Amino acid sequence: MSNDIVIRGLGRYVPEKILSNADLESIVETTDEWITTRTGIKERHVVAEGEYSSDLATAAARMALKNAGMKAEELTHIIVATFTPDNIVPSCACIVEEKLGLKHRVAFDIAAACSGFLFGLEAARAMLALHPDANVLVIGSEVVTHRTNFTDRSTCVLFGDGAGATILSNKGEGPRLLDVRLSTDGELGNLLTVAGGGSASTYKPGEAVRDDYFIQMQGREIFKHAVRSMTGICNEILEANGLSNADVDVLIPHQANWRIIDAVGRKFEIPAEKVFSNVQRYGNTSAASVPLALSEAHSTKFIQDGDLVMLTAFGGGFTWASALLKF
Ligand code: ACO
Repeated sequence: MSNDIVIRGLGRYVPEKILSNADLESIVETTDEWITTRTGIKERHVVAEGEYSSDLATAAARMALKNAGMKAEELTHIIVATFTPDNIVPSCACIVEEKLGLKHRVAFDIAAACSGFLFGLEAARAMLALHPDANVLVIGSEVVTHRTNFTDRSTCVLFGDGAGATILSNKGEGPRLLDVRLSTDGELGNLLTVAGGGSASTYKPGEAVRDDYFIQMQGREIFKHAVRSMTGICNEILEANGLSNADVDVLIPHQANWRIIDAVGRKFEIPAEKVFSNVQRYGNTSAASVPLALSEAHSTKFIQDGDLVMLTAFGGGFTWASALLKF
């Protein structure tokens, strides 16, 4: 267990525009009833024209700075977890650095799909071990709807846009980040892909995008792996820290689908009232989902002082992770 990593501030941002299930009924052959019963999602936020991942990330970062009572100038490292950066180069993190009015920081992106924020927390722990005076901004930010095929009803109903941010330091007041656990399995990578535009799936000038430009997934298979992997890595981190599921006050799983969240809660044997969910309003925002939920659970007082909070996520790669926080 690491000792003194302090969560100085939490922030979040979602774009204004809402896409409801009723709106989707006029785009693809679907119904509010199907989406609600299969996923729990009622609506999701989508970016406006000209609004990018770096904009959502910067807005979430500003809220985290305000929450921490810190100035942007105090930040030393900026880590952005995203699979939907503004560009392949420059990184989203470098753009956020510029938008925050900073220079000469250490800014980089992390590609671990929906688990990316938790991978960012682990990277921050390494940064803080190497640079004890660092103030590390970790953001999950996504414009998933730009990589969503709105003619494919099996995927387009699931995703939304948003961002969540946190600032970590070795010093100061605030909740503690106690531990992080990560895992990956590349063999299962083909079950969830966004390939188009990568070096294995290039486009010639003027060529129309193919379906592989958008999220492709095998929903049922992912469902099974997601539940199994998140439950497993939650038990692993508890055992490593001499704790049990009875010690967990709040569980915040990746907000992919209400049925996955519910299944993780049940398999993990934690009462439903301790499981936080906002997937109903945001859909699956990938790397943004866990920090967005964490910030919201904190501001709405779902999380109380003294609570042991468990985060867990699962995403393409496959990647999966858990983290323990003490408020
Ligand atoms: N509206 C109406 N019908 C639909 C829709 C829709 N939007 N989408 C699919 N259907 C139909 C299918 O065509 C199928 O019809 P058929 O039986 O006539 O062939 C039927 O509904 C059932 O389809 P399934 O795919 O078997 O439905 P399932 O119960 O598995 O639910 C879902 C699908 C919601 C995608 C589920 O598998 C799931 O949530 N999986 C996890 C997906 C996920 O979370 N991915 C991301 C995780 S990792 C990350 O976050 C990047």
